[in-house]
Amino acid sequence: MKNQNCLPMIIQGGMGVGVSNWRLAKSVSQLGHLGVVSGTGINTILIRRLQDGDLHGEVRRAMNNFPDQIYTAEVLKRYFSPTGRKLNESYKLSSLPSCSPSISFLKLTVLASFVEVFLAKENHQGLVGINFLEKLQTSNLPGIYGAMLAEVDYILMGAGIPREIPSVIDHFSKNEAASIKPTLSGIIKNEEARITFSPKDIFPGINIFTLKKPKFIAIVSSSTLATHLAKKTIGTIDGFIVEASTAGGHNAPPRGAMNLNTKGEPIYGLKDNADIEAIKNLGLPFWLAGTFGSPEKLKEAKLAGAVGVQVGTAFAFCEESGISDDLKKATIDKWVFSNIQPLESIFTDPLASPTDFPFKIAPIDGTLSEEHLYLARPRKCDLGYLRQISTDQEGNFVYRCPSEPIEDFIRKGGNIEETRNRKCLCNALMSNIGLGQIQKNGYQELPLLTAGDDLIHIQQYIREGKNSYSASDVISYLTK
Ligand SMILES: Cc1cc2nc3c(=O)[nH]c(=O)nc-3n(C[C@H](O)[C@H](O)[C@H](O)COP(=O)(O)O)c2cc1C
Repeated sequence: MKNQNCLPMIIQGGMGVGVSNWRLAKSVSQLGHLGVVSGTGINTILIRRLQDGDLHGEVRRAMNNFPDQIYTAEVLKRYFSPTGRKLNESYKLSSLPSCSPSISFLKLTVLASFVEVFLAKENHQGLVGINFLEKLQTSNLPGIYGAMLAEVDYILMGAGIPREIPSVIDHFSKNEAASIKPTLSGIIKNEEARITFSPKDIFPGINIFTLKKPKFIAIVSSSTLATHLAKKTIGTIDGFIVEASTAGGHNAPPRGAMNLNTKGEPIYGLKDNADIEAIKNLGLPFWLAGTFGSPEKLKEAKLAGAVGVQVGTAFAFCEESGISDDLKKATIDKWVFSNIQPLESIFTDPLASPTDFPFKIAPIDGTLSEEHLYLARPRKCDLGYLRQISTDQEGNFVYRCPSEPIEDFIRKGGNIEETRNRKCLCNALMSNIGLGQIQKNGYQELPLLTAGDDLIHIQQYIREGKNSYSASDVISYLTK
């Protein structure tokens, strides 16, 4: 049995949606490091896998281990299709996340998170974590609870200030209700509002008194945030991942005003480099992330006092990851086997994400990185994970996303300027993993790939004579 207190040297970064799936996390975990599944959009992933027939039966096997079998039977009845979807058939949707979500949304999210962690942990003793984005406040509580039901070892959270999450974990470990304060933007008339999840109300049939308490790691980009969290958090923080702006996915915005370079990317300067000495002085374990995918960088991180590194881009394109095979092949062909100037072509887009955080894009033909394909997409918001929370004058919640139809966004108090170049990441990221929606009007949602600057190095994981690589190739390279 693996010593649960032994800290992992390599953390395979959580990558949404479904890029770091249970298969990838399990492989990394079995190799003695920390495999992390993504908890983002997990309810949609579950029901789409079921609607596509759950080909190898894994989802149903995990569901058989969920403590409420009456509920799993309902889910199967509603979503499972043994023969998959018909040609051009749209996926059925779950209800949308919100500050007071439907019971069906909450239950489905708990189940989905349970399934992903259960499968990642199945039949071995390695460590498994789950990653959430703090900004996705409307879906995080049931996701955390479901992961804890499956005995997750670590919860990792970035893209925000997860000050209340350790206390949520404490409450859930006693099977008690927990709540967080939503971050409101625009009109704020309901400052006392909380988003609550009460396990006993949602699953009255589940008789549990305690749950294993996972470690909590906050993903930060500065020592200021790390210090704030270390001092102001209610509950325990077990460590930090310090992520630089070269990492794949969302990046923290530069400090101060956002100035752009000639390509239109945010300019990061010296003051954006985290003060590692200050983080070290907090006395908690930490890992470095953002182009740390090589043995030299791993050594550098350890010399700086880190336990190790968190790596994402290298794992995102390995055989086990959730990215669809055609996109992996196109990426490897472009960055390994063609003569492009790879670093030049990773674009840190200040606008693409509805979250306001810069988002790294790996341009690939046939994806929304091509402007004409982006412009051709009929705007629609049917997944809603990234909606901003605001209120009306009466204090009722209003949800809006700058990628939704412009007239809807403006009607809800949004500013037209904010809608320019915004991409529907919710739908695009589902397409990245082969679960893209075919809208009722026949429009096929297209992918939009993210990767960090480390994409330039992926050839180093590919063995002679091969054109793909596995998670174990990445680990062998990093630890050589
Ligand atoms: C495809 C992809 C998706 C990502 N999604 C998330 C995410 O959902 N949550 C998160 O905290 N970090 C996310 N990241 C960041 C990784 O977890 C990791 O911190 C980062 O990739 C490390 O830097 P690297 O890309 O240089 O290896 C993502 C990265 C990639 C490449």
